[in-house]
Amino acid sequence: MSDELQARIAEAIANPRNLGEMQEADAVGTVGSADCGDMLRMWVKFREQDGRKVIDRATFQTFGCETAIAVASVATELISGKTVEEALSLSGEELAAPLGALPPMKIHCAQLVEGALRSALVPGEEAPAPAPQAAPTLLEQLQAGTAADAGGAPRARIVLKPRP
Ligand code: FES
Repeated sequence: MSDELQARIAEAIANPRNLGEMQEADAVGTVGSADCGDMLRMWVKFREQDGRKVIDRATFQTFGCETAIAVASVATELISGKTVEEALSLSGEELAAPLGALPPMKIHCAQLVEGALRSALVPGEEAPAPAPQAAPTLLEQLQAGTAADAGGAPRARIVLKPRP
């Protein structure tokens, strides 16, 4: 990994944008990686702009590596103001573009962000935001082993394990 990329990731980790649950979200998506055990959830709020429905803002929570956190941070800024179609057209690498090119071993970290975004935005997978205080947190779901996507179906078997 280049020094420049490492510096940008460190900067994003030190000051992550749009981190945390969004109570008033219009859509929520969760995805987990069976490969590394990491997990990411994204909340999206829409607004009308010039007769189009665009993403007003997005937030995230993750049990993921630093790269996933950094990509989610820049991606939530990148998709603001985009339509659903425009956001869905972005690959994981494009969502990570503000950080610079990721090494091959870190591409899946960006794909985790892309997956959570798709889970939130793909028709049929949209779901109303959980009621404030009523919904379990991502941590509670992980601890209970009930983490699922917006449609209620398990996205992946989540295996939490210490990272080397
Ligand atoms: Fe699993 Fe980065 S998302 S190692």
